[in-house]
Amino acid sequence: MTQPQTFTITAVYEGESHSFPCRADQTVLAAAEAAGVPLPSSCCSGVCTTCAARISEGTVHQPDAMGVKDDLKEAGYALLCVAFPTSDLTLTAGMEDALYEAQFGQYQK
Ligand code: FES
Repeated sequence: MTQPQTFTITAVYEGESHSFPCRADQTVLAAAEAAGVPLPSSCCSGVCTTCAARISEGTVHQPDAMGVKDDLKEAGYALLCVAFPTSDLTLTAGMEDALYEAQFGQYQK
């Protein structure tokens, strides 16, 4: 059996940069936890957006990210608890407020 591909994730969170490996069949959040990198999470099922991140380089597969609109996924937002890497990634975690603002900000004026 061939092993799933492993990618390198570089995650910036609260001003610190962390690098850890993530298999193609592993969510970015699970890989961070396995590597001892503390990234925010709550529901772990793609709903609450606590784990929101913005990807600056690379791509993910996140069919279960119900909390993110398609155009924001294209802008790089991802829910790390349901995001599987399809390349090496550079991302900023802790983007819940920014994602909320991007999705709902226009309704609050
Ligand atoms: S932890 Fe709730 S959406 Fe990821």
